[in-house]
Amino acid sequence: MSPDPNISDRMQAKKEVRRIKNLPTVPGIVAKISRMVENPDTSVADVGRLISQDQVLSAKVLRMANSAFFGMSRKISSISQALIILGFEVVKGLVLTSSVFDMIQKSMAGLWEHSIGCAAASGVIAAHLGRDDAEEVLVAGLLHDLGKVVLALNLPEEMKLVQDKVAEEDLYFYEAENKVLDFDHAEIGQWLAEHWNLPESLAEPMRFHHKPEKAVLKPEWTAIVHIADILVRAKGFGNGGDDMVPDISMAAWDILGLRKVDFLPILEKLEPKLSSLNDLTALN
Ligand SMILES: [Fe+2]
Ligand SMILES: [Fe+2]
Repeated sequence: MSPDPNISDRMQAKKEVRRIKNLPTVPGIVAKISRMVENPDTSVADVGRLISQDQVLSAKVLRMANSAFFGMSRKISSISQALIILGFEVVKGLVLTSSVFDMIQKSMAGLWEHSIGCAAASGVIAAHLGRDDAEEVLVAGLLHDLGKVVLALNLPEEMKLVQDKVAEEDLYFYEAENKVLDFDHAEIGQWLAEHWNLPESLAEPMRFHHKPEKAVLKPEWTAIVHIADILVRAKGFGNGGDDMVPDISMAAWDILGLRKVDFLPILEKLEPKLSSLNDLTALN
């Protein structure tokens, strides 16, 4: 008797999970910063000095800190200043992003632009809602699709199959992933967040940005990133893997108490930001 094809498909998928679980290691500098802050004697200046030792990395972080993302009225000229003005978590997020920038660039054409566009939109939505954590939400937007990077780099053949399926069947990228792999980049994002010990505020938007109704620990951040992802697609900025612009989930509207009339001011603030993000499109 030949084996049930569904069973062999599932076994194959399980094997893939094991392969992809061989996730990239957390960038050394990020691990070092995390260890440093566990020590109560660590000062802002100590963390600033550590990051500044890597000049290329510091330059990338400062370019992001001074970009249209944050819209600072004065120039941030040192990492220590960025730590004081933007806060530790935001700078750590920017260090993480800068360290994996090459990986994002190599993984998929347009994904970096999609990521910075989603970050800008997340910041704009959070600011529109009057939140005082807009800078941190922005970092969650920046990293939301990191699972796609891991997929592209760890499972390039499957990535190609997913891309073919998107083109042939007009599917959302995550739908095609689920058909080919039985899991998607949002799940990979969750594995990566666990593996890297990322805070829940970054992990949950990675895991549930396509299903914000499932978020329990950071529903507002997840809903903001969900909407930001859709807005940046609607604006045609970058490439998230398919050309589709999904509907905003009802849950996201409810969680944030947003109404349709909120969108005009949000888009008005977002548009100039997107056009001035060009200086970040090649962060070399
Ligand atoms: Fe996604
Ligand atoms: Fe996305």
